[in-house]
Amino acid sequence: MISLRRFVLAAVAVAGAVNAQCDKSVEIKSDSDASALSNCSTIKGDVTIDVGVTTISLPNVQTIEGDLTIKGAVGLTSIDCPMLRQIEGDFVMQGLTVLSSLSMPELAKVGSISWTTLPALSSLTFTKGVTEASSVLITDTILTSLSGISLMTVKTFNINNNRYLNVVDSPLGNVSEALSVEFNGKSLNCSFSQLVWATNITIREAGDVFFPKLASVNNSIAFIQNSFSSVSFPQLEKVGQSFAFNGNTQLTNVTANSLSSVGGTFQFANNTQFQNLNGFRSLKTVGGSVDLSGTFKNATFPQLNDVRGGFNLQTTEEFDCTEFDKKHTSGVVKGDEYTCKGKLSEAKSTNGGASTTGGSGSGSGSGQKNAATGRAGISTFALIAVVAATLIL
Ligand SMILES: *[C@@H]1O[C@H](CO)[C@@H](O)[C@H](O)[C@H]1NC(C)=O
Ligand SMILES: *[C@@H]1O[C@H](CO)[C@@H](O)[C@H](O)[C@H]1NC(C)=O
Ligand SMILES: *[C@@H]1O[C@H](CO)[C@@H](O)[C@H](O)[C@H]1NC(C)=O
Ligand SMILES: *[C@@H]1O[C@H](CO)[C@@H](O)[C@H](O)[C@H]1NC(C)=O
Ligand SMILES: *[C@@H]1O[C@H](CO)[C@@H](O)[C@H](O)[C@H]1NC(C)=O
Ligand SMILES: *[C@@H]1O[C@H](CO)[C@@H](O)[C@H](O)[C@H]1NC(C)=O
Ligand SMILES: *[C@@H]1O[C@H](CO)[C@@H](O)[C@H](O)[C@H]1NC(C)=O
Ligand SMILES: *[C@@H]1O[C@H](CO)[C@@H](O)[C@H](O)[C@H]1NC(C)=O
Repeated sequence: MISLRRFVLAAVAVAGAVNAQCDKSVEIKSDSDASALSNCSTIKGDVTIDVGVTTISLPNVQTIEGDLTIKGAVGLTSIDCPMLRQIEGDFVMQGLTVLSSLSMPELAKVGSISWTTLPALSSLTFTKGVTEASSVLITDTILTSLSGISLMTVKTFNINNNRYLNVVDSPLGNVSEALSVEFNGKSLNCSFSQLVWATNITIREAGDVFFPKLASVNNSIAFIQNSFSSVSFPQLEKVGQSFAFNGNTQLTNVTANSLSSVGGTFQFANNTQFQNLNGFRSLKTVGGSVDLSGTFKNATFPQLNDVRGGFNLQTTEEFDCTEFDKKHTSGVVKGDEYTCKGKLSEAKSTNGGASTTGGSGSGSGSGQKNAATGRAGISTFALIAVVAATLIL
């Protein structure tokens, strides 16, 4: 009798211990700590992996109901979660110097992704692919591809400073806050073949971009220091705030013949090869100012009938201002400022700082400086994004 009673008690104690282990947040401090979770299919809390861990394997875990946070584990080489389907909270990895293998073949849903400084991670083993996440931040990794991250919709999608990343090919249909792809591989081809609308878009230092279905940018869109020569927006009708092309030194052709309104500033600056501004055949309204400085030989906006702000066009080339002078005198330009000038030794944008000098060669040096400033800005932004993501979830 006594021995049976003892046996039952012992069994209950073991079961209790197992449940207790799966039913709360856990902190894994050493490789052996993870084995305590080996029978859990659901962990009802956060999983935090500490600095001393070198490999992680969670063979049976299917769901983590909280966050999965791995920070500063400089000896961690691999993460293997063969059954993991869902992380309901944030999936945070930061400062994992030697992590080279991340295997989560079943992972499909994540609250958010925030990965910072993973200098040994060149690929993901996400066979099924993550199709749901509210935001994605991937910065300072050696990832060569984002295959395995296949979101259809997201709030923020921020991919920056991944120097080996030469392709982003995403099925995103919309981005409700911000889409930023900046300072990755120099020939990065940014392909958003399904994207219909986004609130903000910033593309910097990319080699090609592809937005065949983009119809609306609710706030602003900017292309800065990219190396592509041609870009087209066949479906784009409306930009809610500013539309800017700055410092794209190989750009010769921009076509957005369906675009009818830009709510803020319409700006071209420092695109040193750009000559013909004739790809905006439907542009009617600019809610802010028109600010064009560069090497234009030709510009025409046949439908433009309402510019609420000022108008500035300065070019180093010979230029016929007749079309714009007419728009000025007929009251199309409502702002006080009006400038249209060709054959300048220096073409300046409205803020005064921007300039394209007549001689060639001066561009690259200053461009580098700008890029450096931009980089510092991005790190801060990335930091804020991490903090924000942590606060939200
Ligand atoms: C996991 O389950 C197996 C079989 O039920 C058992 O032998 C083992 O002790 C359990 N491990 C843990 C850590 O609870
Ligand atoms: C966002 O995109 C997804 C995927 O294309 C689509 O299912 C969803 O309806 C879109 N949402 C809005 C508000 O446009
Ligand atoms: C979009 O960009 C503008 C200008 O940079 C910024 O003021 C605004 O907060 C951004 N909106 C979102 C939702 O990120
Ligand atoms: C970039 O990707 C798009 C769509 O996948 C493709 O049409 C285009 O040719 C690619 N550009 C380059 C330079 O490979
Ligand atoms: C952005 O504009 C599109 C198309 O007009 C609209 O469907 C979408 O709801 C807007 N998004 C936001 C966040 O306002
Ligand atoms: C500019 O790009 C558009 C759209 O891709 C194309 O139809 C047009 O021929 C190009 N113009 C020049 C001068 O290359
Ligand atoms: C300017 O555009 C007109 C009409 O599109 C074209 O006939 C002319 O050749 C262009 N001039 C230059 C210098 O590209
Ligand atoms: C254009 O380049 C000049 C010189 O590098 C810089 O001062 C200016 O801020 C740039 N303008 C824009 C709008 O990026």
